[in-house]
Formats: sequence, C-alpha cells, structure tokens
Amino acid sequence: MAKHTICLIEGDGIGHEVIRAAKHVLEGMQVTGELEFSWLTAEAGWELFERTGNSIPDETLDIVKSAKATLFGAATSPSKKVAGFKGAIRHMRRALDLYANVRPAKHHPVPGSRAGVDLIVVRENTEGLYVEQERSYMNGELAVAEAVITKRASQRIGDYAAKLALSRPRKLVHVAHKANVLPVTQGLFLNTAQAAASVYDVTVKDIIIDNCAMQLVARPEQFDVIVTTNLFGDIISDLTAGLVGGLGIAASGNIGEQYAVFESVHGSAPDIAGQGIANPTATVLAAALMLHHIGEHQAADRLEKAVDIALEHGPRTRDLGGTASTMDFAATLLEAYKTA
Ligand code: NAI
Ligand code: MG
Repeated sequence: MAKHTICLIEGDGIGHEVIRAAKHVLEGMQVTGELEFSWLTAEAGWELFERTGNSIPDETLDIVKSAKATLFGAATSPSKKVAGFKGAIRHMRRALDLYANVRPAKHHPVPGSRAGVDLIVVRENTEGLYVEQERSYMNGELAVAEAVITKRASQRIGDYAAKLALSRPRKLVHVAHKANVLPVTQGLFLNTAQAAASVYDVTVKDIIIDNCAMQLVARPEQFDVIVTTNLFGDIISDLTAGLVGGLGIAASGNIGEQYAVFESVHGSAPDIAGQGIANPTATVLAAALMLHHIGEHQAADRLEKAVDIALEHGPRTRDLGGTASTMDFAATLLEAYKTA
C-alpha cells in the first residue's frame, strides 16, 4: 500500500473549516485499509499576511513542492491595493507553474442542479489578466491593466484540454474566446489552442465567450470540455458551479507538470466564516480530484459516489437548504464512504 504525503493549507475564513472537514474524511478513509496518508501543513493567505507581512512565504512553496499533492482551503484577497500583498493561490499557480485549472461541473442530487450537465472548464491559470500588471495614471483618473497571452501557454492548455476530452465519452472541446474584439491577444489564444487541440482525435469547436455564457445557461448539456483564458475561466466556472448546486459543491485542481494544488472554487466566504456551517463538499470533491491525480482512482470514485449518497440522503448544509453543520456533513460523508 502506497503512503501519500499530502500538504494541507487552510488559508482564511471557511478555509479552516472545510480543510479540517476534508481531513477528517480522508483520515477516516484510511481505516478501510486501502489508503495511507501522511500530512504536511503550510500557511498562506490574508491572516498570515496580517501576522507576518507575507501571504505566501517561500517555506510554504517548498512544503507544497515536497508533497505529492496539496489540498488548499481558500484565501481572502482585499478588493483594494495593499502594499506588499500577493494573492496566495494566484502566486502559487504562477510560481509552481500550475498551468491548468480544471473545474468539473457535474449534476448532483441537490436542489437546483440541472440534469444532464457533465462538463469541465479548463482555465489557463498562469497569464491573461491575472499577470496582475495594473497601473494608474493622471492622479487616478485613468487605470490600465495588461493581459498577457503567450503561444506557449495557449498551446499547452489546448493540448491539456484535448487530452482530457480524449478520456471522456463525447471527446468534444470548445475553445471559448473573445477574438472578435481582441484579435491580437484572444486571437493568439484561439488559433493556438485550436491547433493544439486539433492534433488529437477530438471534435474542436470555437465559441465566443459571451455566447458561451448564454449557451451554458440555456443548454449546458451540449458542453463537454471548455478551454478558455484565465479571467473568462474564473467567471464561467462560477456560472457552471451554479448550474449544479452552487459554490458549496464545486471543486477544482491547479495542475502543472511537477506539482498540483486542489481546492474548492469558492473563496473564504467571510459572511459565514467561523460559524461551522460551510459546506465541505467542494473541498471533499477537490480531494477526490486529488486522489485521481495521485493514481488512487478506486478511492476517488468511491468518494465521489459517497458524496452523491450523502447529498441525496443525508442532512444538508445551509447553502443547500438544510441545517447540518460542516462537521455533521463530513461525518455523514464518511459513513457513506464506508458503505459506498
Ligand atoms: P466566496 O466564494 O467566498 O463566497 C460567495 C458566496 O458563496 C457567499 O455568500 C458564501 O457564503 C457562499 N459560499 C461560498 N462557499 C461556500 C461553502 N463552502 N458553503 C456555503 N456557502 C458558501 O466569494 P466572495 O464572497 O466573492 O469572496 C470572498 C473572499 O474570498 C474574497 O477575499 C476573495 O478574494 C476570496 N476568494 C478566494 C478564492 C480562492 O482562495 N481560491 C476564490 C474566490 C474568492
Ligand atoms: Mg473565482
């Protein structure tokens, strides 16, 4: 039996609660004897910044590098410029070259989840508007943000999306873009990602991002893998989370050649932090993606099955209309895993 070294980073707000809940589930999964974990912990985020002046220390990056994979909670970013502050997860994505942000949206047995949805948003994770190059001119009368698109990043994300589609029944890739308005940057992304994906035996279509947003609401079942640039991917993956039950159940993986960090799509949710009512499902499903990534497919499939059993039959957390606490739901999930 392989022993996996997993790094846990709680971060801020409900990050603490959902990581502890996910750890409880993963620890319990060891009892069945098929899996073994050893844990590393590291710190990142706004609370750490307030304490130490550094939101993402090199030591954290080193711990992430030394682990087989990392499970991350969530980190707060202020909506104003704060001198010396770096967005922890955004910095990690670039510093560790976690170039593919993979965000599945699949129907779950919860209120508001649309039947027939089974898609994955593949978001380019290292460039676009997320290079965080913003400048202000004329005493704040004018502000400019740079979007960076490279052929290399567009090529490898197109390649990643096509390989992912190849492993799925429909083998369909939509390259979502805004090349009609931004032919230089978005055009480079579109042409390069399209060409990279077309190397494989998959169907490659292109779609303008605003139409893609509308089509996702109107007929989401038509999509399989959607590959897009960083900011568009951020926005439409919250939309696709909304199609299947909301942010409480949406998971993601930040995957590079060498390292991988798994997390929920949601943030630190300051409005409910500290109350013990956050839905841990998103982080547990992120843990399932992590298990797939490290080759523990059987445990991952079983955990995903347990999530659906618990969502269907167990007490639900508040975001899904119930009153269960974070740890109540984690306990239900673990019970479901043992029988799944
Ligand atoms: P958010 O995702 O934290 O919350 C949006 C809404 O969804 C809130 O009403 C929240 O209570 C609810 N929600 C989110 N996760 C939930 C869960 N697990 N269970 C139940 N309800 C849940 O987004 P928001 O409010 O826009 O951002 C808050 C902070 O989080 C900001 O500082 C933002 O920068 C940061 N953020 C961090 C991310 C990350 O660490 N990857 C991603 C998104 C936002
Ligand atoms: Mg987001």
